[in-house]
Amino acid sequence: MKTITTIREMGEWVQEAKKGGRSIGLVPTMGFLHEGHISLVERAKAENDHVVMSIFVNPAQFGPNEDFDRYPRDLERDSELAEAAGTEVIFAPSVEEMYPRQSAISMSAGPLADVLCGAKRPGHFDGVLKVVTKLFHIIQPARAYFGQKDAQQLAIIESLVEDFNFPLTIRRGETVREADGLAKSSRNVYLSEAERVEAPHLQKALQLGKVAALAGEDPIAPMKAYLEERVSGKIDYIDLLSYPSLTEQIEEEAILALAVQFEKARLIDNLIFNMK
Ligand code: PAJ
Repeated sequence: MKTITTIREMGEWVQEAKKGGRSIGLVPTMGFLHEGHISLVERAKAENDHVVMSIFVNPAQFGPNEDFDRYPRDLERDSELAEAAGTEVIFAPSVEEMYPRQSAISMSAGPLADVLCGAKRPGHFDGVLKVVTKLFHIIQPARAYFGQKDAQQLAIIESLVEDFNFPLTIRRGETVREADGLAKSSRNVYLSEAERVEAPHLQKALQLGKVAALAGEDPIAPMKAYLEERVSGKIDYIDLLSYPSLTEQIEEEAILALAVQFEKARLIDNLIFNMK
């Protein structure tokens, strides 16, 4: 496996790799890999001639009081895991390489970012759009892989690709969970022991909310009551929306999503299901 840190070298590799119509599958990540990331690599490997993983903790998507500086990083361990899963190239640029100057042009996720995490993290999805656009142009994948764990991000990136005719397909990966139901996340390492014991209740609350929603009842109030009794963290939001439009009026697919702020970790989770 090769690790590439400059855009120029990445571009040269891409030109060579795409010869003869060969396809590149891209898995964008911020590193500190877990089975959620690895499941995306395995899918990319099955569907493409080449697999590239990007590892870049993107400052543009972190707010001033968020965890950019202390976001967990371990490139050596990540390299071993990525290689074992079938990654051919890791693209791991520095911040200076990706952002050598203040951008003159800004991107806005628009109304899709007015709800859920977007409402709580102003500018976050604009920063995601910025880095993902750059990665798509640098790596020129035929397919790019994103997890449903970050369902709002996925919906926004699908819109980006559709609205601006990016010549690639977005693939959705199922959320990979711990045995007790907690969604795998690089941020789970921030949980205290007591919080780690509480954290599976996020998924349990979603399950009971789904049952209520499918019965035509309000899922939010019972979920809130369930969580307040069992979790020390503060509920940031619980919401039921149409997916992937993220509007109030649910047509077919719905997303039931929540965020809980623990002492050091903000955890998110969701369920996407058919309301019909
Ligand atoms: P990161 O949090 O590292 O996640 C990288 C990819 O892995 C995302 O598509 C995310 O949805 C997926 N993922 C995370 N946890 C998962 C799980 N438990 N099961 C399945 N997939 C999971 O998301 C980002 O990085 C960044 O915002 C990025 C897209 C790389 C842009 O900077």
